[in-house]
Formats: sequence, structure tokens, C-alpha cells
Amino acid sequence: MNEPPSGHDLLIDVQVLGFDLACAEQFGKVRGSLFQKGISIPTAPVPDSLVADALMPRISVSHIATLVFSFAGLLTSATVGQAAGKRGDYEQHALTHAGDAGRGRALFADEKLTKCALCHKVQGQGGDVGPDLSHIGGKFDRPHLVESLLEPSRQIVEGFRTSVIATVDGQTLTGIVREQSAETIVLFDAGGVKHVVPAAKVEHRETSPVSLMPQGLEELLTREQFTDLIAYLDTLRADKNAPFGAGTFQGKILRINPDGTVPGDNPFLAETKGKYAAIWARGLRNPFTFAVRPSSGELFINDVGGKFEELNVGLPGANYGWPVVEHGPTSDARFRGPVHWYPQASISGGAFAPADSGWPTAYRGRYFFADFVHGWIRSLDPDHPESVATFVSGLRRPVDLRFMPDGRLLVLLRNAWVIDDKFQPGTGTLLQIRPAYSSSGRD
Ligand code: HEC
Repeated sequence: MNEPPSGHDLLIDVQVLGFDLACAEQFGKVRGSLFQKGISIPTAPVPDSLVADALMPRISVSHIATLVFSFAGLLTSATVGQAAGKRGDYEQHALTHAGDAGRGRALFADEKLTKCALCHKVQGQGGDVGPDLSHIGGKFDRPHLVESLLEPSRQIVEGFRTSVIATVDGQTLTGIVREQSAETIVLFDAGGVKHVVPAAKVEHRETSPVSLMPQGLEELLTREQFTDLIAYLDTLRADKNAPFGAGTFQGKILRINPDGTVPGDNPFLAETKGKYAAIWARGLRNPFTFAVRPSSGELFINDVGGKFEELNVGLPGANYGWPVVEHGPTSDARFRGPVHWYPQASISGGAFAPADSGWPTAYRGRYFFADFVHGWIRSLDPDHPESVATFVSGLRRPVDLRFMPDGRLLVLLRNAWVIDDKFQPGTGTLLQIRPAYSSSGRD
């Protein structure tokens, strides 16, 4: 089989096909419009000066990070390049380091420094001001946990909006209303103190868009401490060892016919009822995307970690071990381990390079996969998955890749995490990468 590409003997040509894309739709719809029906770029014109043929006709792979940063000045700095400032730094650290959950637990309980436990309960211990966090690790992925600590007002939990109450005797109380009746209002303030206000004494009451949760955690904690705290929150899950069984779609790959019926040879027909008969493989955590290897029909599944990001080869009836195995290789005979894995953060799109159409031999048929947090695209040889090479790095939030029939590689970047009421449209960028020159010739 071929040697992994060294990354230095290929020059590539990069163009920005569209930017500030209005990705206000769900990601699935974006993918649908961009990739399934061919490329339809929103009409935002790409200035001629940006067209790579004029601006940067030949870019070496090893220099792509500089290239991408140099785009940042022309595009929006939020779209390409790393998140700026101290928060971005803390975010990046927490997303790329495991952290120490034990130390995080002590920080959480520290009523002088972090004060978390003054306001939050975990397994029955702690205050009542904010939501119970006993299962927060099951509710949020790491990026979302990070966001909830660094930008607490971005998404406020329903029922925990901050209320400001002015009373007839001139008092102003700010806090969370936890109980109310016709006679009284029970409010907890930021110090965890409970106030019982007779309804008759309320002169004015309004809600504030600012979370009661303290801001500026990045000023209080070191990066390492912050990551430890995130690691601890990540461990708080309902029933960590509950098997994701046949009666749920969580962690499954489904297989259905084009007309919606279940194929007669699906692997779990005997153990499942109704719609669950569609289950084809299980024990995945967050199988974000998969691609079909054209030469063999094999499924390559990108499964977001856990402790490790995984690349799994799909087999009917296979169990990949989540949540019993925290990702990574396993010697447990019940489970099938990944063919490739690396420490978190978020594996995203994947695609096979076409066997023909302009790529040098060493790249043909390789599996290309992106990481949303690290901002790179790597490739591996599907027959020798240990041979992994970085293709490009420095991308801001790559979410998907697709090779076009003519060989161009399209990369969709989208600098947004969840779609909520603070969602900012226009953070999408579509890049096109194609081989421009290879020192070994275009064979
Ligand atoms: C003064 C009280 C207070 C303190 C101190 C506090 N929080 Fe909060 N926290 C809240 C409130 C109120 C909310 C709900 C409003 C919101 O979503 O911002 C909240 C929300 C959260 C959420 C989101 C929960 C969800 O279900 O979406 C997390 C996670 C969290 N806090 C973690 C922490 C951690 C970790 C600390 C310590 C560093 C901490 N909080 C300190 C009051 C507090």
C-alpha cells in the first residue's frame, strides 16, 4: 500500500467559495443544501480579490495555517483562526486536556473560592439557588459545559431566570424565585440566602437577562483548575453503567430501506420490537458522521468521545462498548474497539478521497477526517489505519468534508456550537481544496 503523504511534497490550491454563510438552519439542512444537491452557495458574492487563483495560487500544505490566518483579516476573525482572548484560551485548554476530576470536585466544594456548592446541589449536597447538577455531564458535552461556565448568561435554564423585586418598603431583592403562592414569594439571592416576601409587599417585579451565576471564572481560576472543574462536571451522569439497550435509539446506527421499512436481515430483529428493529450497530456515543468506503462498502464511523475520539469500522450487530467502555481500545470480547483513536476533542466530518481525479497516488482512497476543536484535517490509510498524517491545520471549527466527483475537497467551517436564542448566523465558511502540484508528479 502507499506511504502516508509526507505533507510537504504536495502543493494545494485553496479557495474560499463562500463565507458569512447564513447557517441559520439546522446543520443537517446546511449539509443537505451544500452537499447532497450539489453546491448552492448563498448569493453573498466572493470578492474577486479573495479568489485564490489571483491571491494565492499555490500554497504548501505545511503553510496552510498561515494561509488560514491570513484569511482571517479578510473574512471575519471569528470564522477562521483560533478564538481570541483569555476565555478562548481557557476554552481551548479545557477541550484538549482531560483534567483531574478529583481536583475539580474539591474546587466545586470550595465555598470560599468557587462557591459552586453554595448554589448547586450534587447528589443531595449543596445549595438550592441554581439547578441540581447531579446529571449535568449527561446533559451537556464538554464544549457546552465550558460555555455554561464562561458565558453563563448565554443560555439560562428555564425556571432559573434572575428576578428583581422592589418592595413597598424600599428594598430591592435580586435572585431566583423558587416558590410562589398567592401569599408569598420565596427568593434565593446570590449568597444563597432565602428571602420570604409577602406578596402584598411587592411593588414591582421583573426578570433580568443576566444569570445569577457569577461571571469571570477565568479571572478566579487558573486554566488547569478550570479544566479540572470541567472534568468533574463531565463525570456527573445519571447511571453511568446503564447499558444502552435495544429499547432506545441512543448510541445506535440504524439501517432502513428507502421506503422506511426495516430490512429483513437487520441484526437485532429477534431482540427488538417495532421501530427498534432498525438498529444495526450499537454502543456508540455520538456517531457524528460516517462515510462509506467506495471500494468495499465498509462504513467508517466518526464517534465523538468521551476520553477519546474514535474511528470505528461498522459491522452489523457490533457493539462498540459505550457507555461501559469510556472509548479507546478495549480487550473486552463483547465489544469491538476502534481502528483509530486519539484524545478528545471532537471528531467531525469524514470522507474518502476518490481513487482517481487528480490527487497524487499516495492520497487516493485515503480516509480524510476533521476535528472541530483542534481545527485540523488528517488522513489515514483504511487498510493500515495506524498510518495517520495531518493534511491541514489551523481551520476554525471544521464540521464536514466532501470530495466532489471532480476531486475537489470541500470543507465546511461553522463557528457555532448549539442553535439557541443567542445563535449567530453567518459564521459559516466553505473552502475548496484541490491538489495544485506534486513534486512526484501528478501520476
Ligand atoms: C450565586 C449562585 C451560583 C453560583 C455561586 C454558581 N452558580 Fe451555577 N448557576 C446558578 C444559576 C442561578 C444557574 C441557572 C441560570 C443559568 O442557566 O445561568 C446556574 C447554572 C449553572 C449551570 C448550567 C446548568 C444547566 O442545567 O444548564 C452549570 C453547569 C453551573 N451553573 C455550574 C456552576 C459551577 C461549576 C459553579 C462554580 C464555579 C457555579 N455554577 C457557581 C447559580 C450559581
